[in-house]
Amino acid sequence: MPAFVPATPQQTSWAVWLAAIVCAVLAIAVIIAGIVVFAIYIIYQPKMPYIKVAYAHLSKLDYGQPGLLEIEMVLNLVAENDNKKAHASFSDLSFLLQFHRIDVAALRADPFDVAKNSSLELDYHFPSSPIPLDQAAMETMDVALKRGVVSFDLSGHARTRWRVGIFLSVKFRTYLSCELRFFWPNGSTVNLDCISKSP
Ligand SMILES: *[C@@H]1O[C@H](CO)[C@@H](O)[C@H](O)[C@H]1NC(C)=O
Ligand SMILES: *[C@@H]1O[C@H](CO)[C@@H](O)[C@H](O)[C@H]1NC(C)=O
Repeated sequence: MPAFVPATPQQTSWAVWLAAIVCAVLAIAVIIAGIVVFAIYIIYQPKMPYIKVAYAHLSKLDYGQPGLLEIEMVLNLVAENDNKKAHASFSDLSFLLQFHRIDVAALRADPFDVAKNSSLELDYHFPSSPIPLDQAAMETMDVALKRGVVSFDLSGHARTRWRVGIFLSVKFRTYLSCELRFFWPNGSTVNLDCISKSP
């Protein structure tokens, strides 16, 4: 029994024609998709949605012996969609608040949408549980309280994408990494400037 049956000339040309047609259709589809994406991009000029800290307040800071820190903070984040014609959605939002690299609180949110040219507020008001500080953090806290300015680090990321009609963009990551500084004892922020960036 032969292992290989040569195709007749007619069969070969059929197969070649079929392959050529499929390739041509695929190529045209790819070109059309490219033109559509490019046109949407030019017409709508989507801007990357982002998250910013609109307001923060340190409402309580108990720092007693033996190096236990307890705080209460109000954090007002805003998810901004500056697109005039595209909706935005956010997911996997997760931020971590730290003092001197020691975790203080974790902030999360369920996925949500932001309408075009709009924003959505995420309000957090949380007391921390008592956090034991290590030697270096205790020294930093002593200095901070003497200076009257206490710093925390807020970092993390969210995934975001925009939607125009039925067209969804891929998901982008937007990263937040900033220092939140508070006057103590009044707890108001010092030069609050905290906006997420997409690389
Ligand atoms: C976008 O929002 C701003 C302020 O919220 C408003 O002044 C402006 O008219 C809005 N633009 C559109 C196209 O909706
Ligand atoms: C908080 O205290 C700082 C420094 O003492 C001061 O500059 C700031 O205006 C105060 N903020 C409020 C809201 O009172």
